Amino acid sequence: MPRKQKATVVALVGAVVLLAGLWLIIRNIGTPTKPLNTLAPFGQQSQDIQNLTIPVFAVAGVIFMLVLVAMIWMVVRFRSPDGAVEGDDEPTQTHGNTPLEIGWTVVPAVLLAVLAILNVQTLLKLDDVGADPLEVTVVGQQWWWEYRYDLDGDQTPEIITATQMAMPAGRDVTVKIQSNDVIHSFWIPALNGKKDAVPGRTHELAFNSDTPGIYEGQCTEFCGLSHGVMRMQIKVLPPEEFDLWTASMLKPPEQPSSAAAARGEALFVGQCARCHEVNGLDPNSTEPYAYAAKPSPNYGAEVDSSLSSKNAPNLTNFMMRQTFAGNLLALWEGDASTAVVAVPGDVPGATPDKVNIKRWLRNPLDVKPMYAENNQGMPNLNLSEDQIDDLTEYLVTLGPTTRPSA
Ligand code: CUA
Repeated sequence: MPRKQKATVVALVGAVVLLAGLWLIIRNIGTPTKPLNTLAPFGQQSQDIQNLTIPVFAVAGVIFMLVLVAMIWMVVRFRSPDGAVEGDDEPTQTHGNTPLEIGWTVVPAVLLAVLAILNVQTLLKLDDVGADPLEVTVVGQQWWWEYRYDLDGDQTPEIITATQMAMPAGRDVTVKIQSNDVIHSFWIPALNGKKDAVPGRTHELAFNSDTPGIYEGQCTEFCGLSHGVMRMQIKVLPPEEFDLWTASMLKPPEQPSSAAAARGEALFVGQCARCHEVNGLDPNSTEPYAYAAKPSPNYGAEVDSSLSSKNAPNLTNFMMRQTFAGNLLALWEGDASTAVVAVPGDVPGATPDKVNIKRWLRNPLDVKPMYAENNQGMPNLNLSEDQIDDLTEYLVTLGPTTRPSA
């Protein structure tokens, strides 16, 4: 086969192989097959990123194909023939072809300028929020995420929760990202890009989603032992469900009615309240326990918690969440653990996952690696099985287990 023909055949085969490879890469774009797929947007910001990614990759892909196929063609076409002598058959040397040099300077410059404009446009758009965004302070901790809602703008939060953040669909949300210990990074790929949580700083990130759903996230800055399992969720609720969520979260717990739960309550005050807050309870609380409507924003510092971060998840309306232990364990069985509703206990047949709660209480280190001897994370409290049963009965009373009447 003549050289030229052979080069064309090899280059064409190469092009087909490359196209097949590219197809394997891009065929899943937009398919929500994996929880951390950056190419399946469900928010305004992630859609803006997608709208930038696709044309940039298309342009880069075309250039990649042209360069690679031309290179394959030339390698085969101009290969030294067998038995060639070094130095023989030198190609004609050229220098200073002005139109060619202007061409390969101007074309990439124009291309890069267009891409730069598109990039800057998108970056500016990602920060746009309307006049009245919902503001949520997000605090990275070793190894979980805390959310603080200051609903009345008085600079103190009315709601403090962890792991699962709720937000209304169709409304701008600004999260103010902070850290209590080391650098973390907050990333919910279905809704927006990532932003670092840096001690002593506040970084803002905007969200707006029209699609109710539960979107998964993962800390993406190495932050120590359990970085790899430092997960979180954002639950986007229809606006009226979000109103129900805030109303439910603002309700203080009621006195437990069963004897086991009451024993668990006393145990919570004695053991857990040294780090965990349930609004109104602290290690010095005495019976009958009185609950408060608002959390203390400085709880860990006030009770002199031994934790190095001085902070553990606020458990006031614990059962309003669908997941706990840094999103590693489901808090409800079956559908209630994934239903996109304000009150998981409201889902027909909802049953708290007591097996998971007990597993955590029996030995938290069995679920999530922590450095409890260095006051980072939850220690194994060596509770007896009776204590674990009582504590579980108490914890499942925290938060409405049925839809509260308006
Ligand atoms: Cu927090 Cu990695």
